[in-house]
Amino acid sequence: MQLNETWKKVDRYIEQQLIPHDPDLEQVLAANQQAALPPIDVSPTQGKLLQLLVQMRGAKRILEIGTLGGYSTIWMARALPADGRLVTLELDPHHAEVAQSNLLLAGLASKVELRVGDALAQLAELQAEGAEPFDFIFIDADKPNNPHYLKWALAFSRPGTVILGDNVIREGEIVRDDSPDARVQGVRAFYELLAQEPRISATAIQTVGSKGYDGFMLGVVI
Ligand code: SAH
Ligand code: DHB
Ligand code: MG
Repeated sequence: MQLNETWKKVDRYIEQQLIPHDPDLEQVLAANQQAALPPIDVSPTQGKLLQLLVQMRGAKRILEIGTLGGYSTIWMARALPADGRLVTLELDPHHAEVAQSNLLLAGLASKVELRVGDALAQLAELQAEGAEPFDFIFIDADKPNNPHYLKWALAFSRPGTVILGDNVIREGEIVRDDSPDARVQGVRAFYELLAQEPRISATAIQTVGSKGYDGFMLGVVI
C-alpha cells in the first residue's frame, strides 16, 4: 500500500485537532495488534466519519458486514440512541473473540450483536429470523462478495437507509478492467450493480490518509 508522508501527517493533524484522545479506542487498537489482527481497521478520521453519518441519519438499527476487532463497530455504536442496536457479522472466530472483548471494554456489549460465521449464511439466517430493516449498513468484509452484500443490503433496507462501502478505490486499481485481483473484480461488480439499481442513489469518494489511497461508496435507498 502506498503511504504518502504528507497524507499521514495531515491525518495526524486532523486527529490532534478534531478527534479527542480516547483511551478505549486506543486500547482496542493495541488489543488488535497484540492479537495479531491485520491492521485494516478504518482510520480514526474515517471512524469519526462513520459516526457522524450514523448521527446525521439518526440511525437506530445498524448492520455491519466485516467486524475485525470491532474498531469501526465501536465508532458507529457510540452514535446509537439508548434503544439502538448494531448487528455485526464476522467470519473469523479469532477476530470475533477479540472484537467481543473489545466491545465489552467499550461498554457496548449490550447494544451490539456480534454474529460469527460466513456473512452470506448469517444474512440468510437474519432474514429467516424476520430481522427488521436497518437504517445504516456498512459493507467492509471480503471484497469478492461485495455484489452479494449489496443485494442483501437492499433486502434489509427501507427508503432512507444509508449504505456505505469501504475500499472501493484500492489505489485506483478499480479502473483496471483486466485486473487479476478478485477483490478488484468484486468492487467493479459492485459498481456495475449500483449503476443499474434504480433503488439506490450513490456516489464514491476517493480518500487519502493514514490508510493510503482508497475510498468509500455512499448511497441512500430511495
Ligand atoms: N470493519 C472493520 C474492518 C473489517 S476487515 C474495521 O474497520 O474496524 C474485514 C473483515 O471481514 C475481517 O475481519 C474478515 O475476517 C472478515 N470477513 C472476511 N470474509 C468474510 C465473510 N465471508 N463473512 C464475514 N466476515 C468476513
Ligand atoms: C483490506 C481490507 C479492508 O477492509 C481495508 O479497509 C483495507 C485493506 C485488505 O483486505 O487488504
Ligand atoms: Mg475496509
